[in-house]
Amino acid sequence: IQQTGMPAETVDLDVSGVRTLVLVVSSLGDTLEYDHADWADARFEVAGAKPRTVVPPRTGDCILTPAPPPGRPRINGARRFGARPGSPFLYSIAATGERPMRFTAGNLPDGLRVDPDSGRITGRLRRRGEWKVILGASNRLGTAHGELRIVGGDTLALTPPMGWNSWNVFGRNPDDAKLRAAADSMVLSGLIQHGWSYINIDDCWQNKLSSTDPFLNRPGRDAAGRVNPNGHFPDMKALCDYIHEKGLRAGIYSSPGMYTCAGYTGSLQHETGDAQRYAEWGFDYLKYDWCYMTHTAPNLSLETQQATWMKMSRALARTGRDLVFSWSETLDVWPWAKDFGANCWRTTGDITDTWESVDGIGFNQDGREHVAGPGHWNDCDMFVVGKLGGGRLRSTRLSADEQYSHISLWCLLASPLLIGCDMTQLDAFTLGLLSNDEVIEVDQDPLGRQAHRVQRDENVEVWSKEMEDGSRAVGLFNRGEFEITAGVGWKELGVQGTQWVRDLWRQEDLGRFPDAYTTRIPRHGVRLVRIRPVRNP
Ligand code: GLA
Repeated sequence: IQQTGMPAETVDLDVSGVRTLVLVVSSLGDTLEYDHADWADARFEVAGAKPRTVVPPRTGDCILTPAPPPGRPRINGARRFGARPGSPFLYSIAATGERPMRFTAGNLPDGLRVDPDSGRITGRLRRRGEWKVILGASNRLGTAHGELRIVGGDTLALTPPMGWNSWNVFGRNPDDAKLRAAADSMVLSGLIQHGWSYINIDDCWQNKLSSTDPFLNRPGRDAAGRVNPNGHFPDMKALCDYIHEKGLRAGIYSSPGMYTCAGYTGSLQHETGDAQRYAEWGFDYLKYDWCYMTHTAPNLSLETQQATWMKMSRALARTGRDLVFSWSETLDVWPWAKDFGANCWRTTGDITDTWESVDGIGFNQDGREHVAGPGHWNDCDMFVVGKLGGGRLRSTRLSADEQYSHISLWCLLASPLLIGCDMTQLDAFTLGLLSNDEVIEVDQDPLGRQAHRVQRDENVEVWSKEMEDGSRAVGLFNRGEFEITAGVGWKELGVQGTQWVRDLWRQEDLGRFPDAYTTRIPRHGVRLVRIRPVRNP
């Protein structure tokens, strides 16, 4: 590791007999971006035939997710849902299959009803408790059933939140029309049928007095201290209503400091009023981003930090609406966040659409699995697949295999899943990535375990996640530059006897394996499988 200004280092390596030489610049693994390398005047002196440089092999954008079988209903989405008694309740039954479809929900608790045409369960729970609701979805080709456990209590986000966030594509320019278009697309693309539900505004919906843009340089708050949206959001309540009418939920963003990370009005000293206002507008999710805190209180003690988070957590709990509380913070809050009201918390800096970023974040999560569980999740940041941007829209720079690794790893890690791309521009490949129900099930498994690493060498990582039904989801990853053969033994996974192995991306049984599973994996690629014991009849 070199720092600016340090003298160059001499590297003297005997490469005689070596046929392939790869110079790799990788992340320092500290989750901070902007690592870079400079080969200075590196020189290769060769005798004999001149070596050739090659570009890294890039497999095609192969769509692995099978097209949904024609017609028959299949119920997808979260199988556990927590809500506070008395709060407005919204759960949309997610189901693929031919329309029209009719929905039923047996054993619904008092206060809730299901709309048979849309499959939306709404109302308010009357009391605390747990109900096993039997969901049904029927069309002319058949009926599917599934169980949903509704838990009336204080805990929200019993499975990791799944949705979309504006930041990775619209950056500082979110507006009402883009948010409505995102909600429309989540429905029209069919993503809603796979359990996707939150449409979240990130930073920059507030005002910024220092701006010269007339839409932004209005007062941050009105005379009563209520926060004003900027001119790009003429009516927040109408926007939330619009999102809810589609069967989706709405998210908003703020910071505990005087300003947000991008310098817009923050919630400092207005926590209770802001929480109340978000609830009145109809929001269901708050991303609270730790910015401008050192300006107001330098050398913050741990106690002050915790009290700051707790203040908003309490304010949200008192609104009478269920708002998932998502923390965005790069300091290590994960060891204690769940005890201070967080439903999820970032464990990394901001993601970008490079392999170094995805690899540096994803493979550095080991050791945090004990704090994850229903209601509280480690958050690896938003997806960087599809069309991303800011000003000009562009495709993700990740290769197809890197994208499969990204989604697989986030699901194994039980991270909140937040789509970051322009959903009005979803191509078939990206849609395939985001709509594989067997892959999503890994993330949404009701047991709520986070995968841990079971094996690592120079190129290979194997991660394993225990699932509620006793099976395991296992990802075999190749971080190296060439296709390799990699495997995992049942002993390493802690399972016994012959196992069935199923490829989750291809949704295909691979057969019985007595003691290990070995496969080829492309550069930066993954094989995501589910293994379960073969039971003797
Ligand atoms: C921070 C967060 C990002 C995004 C921006 C908005 O960098 O980590 O996810 O919310 O702020 O300003």
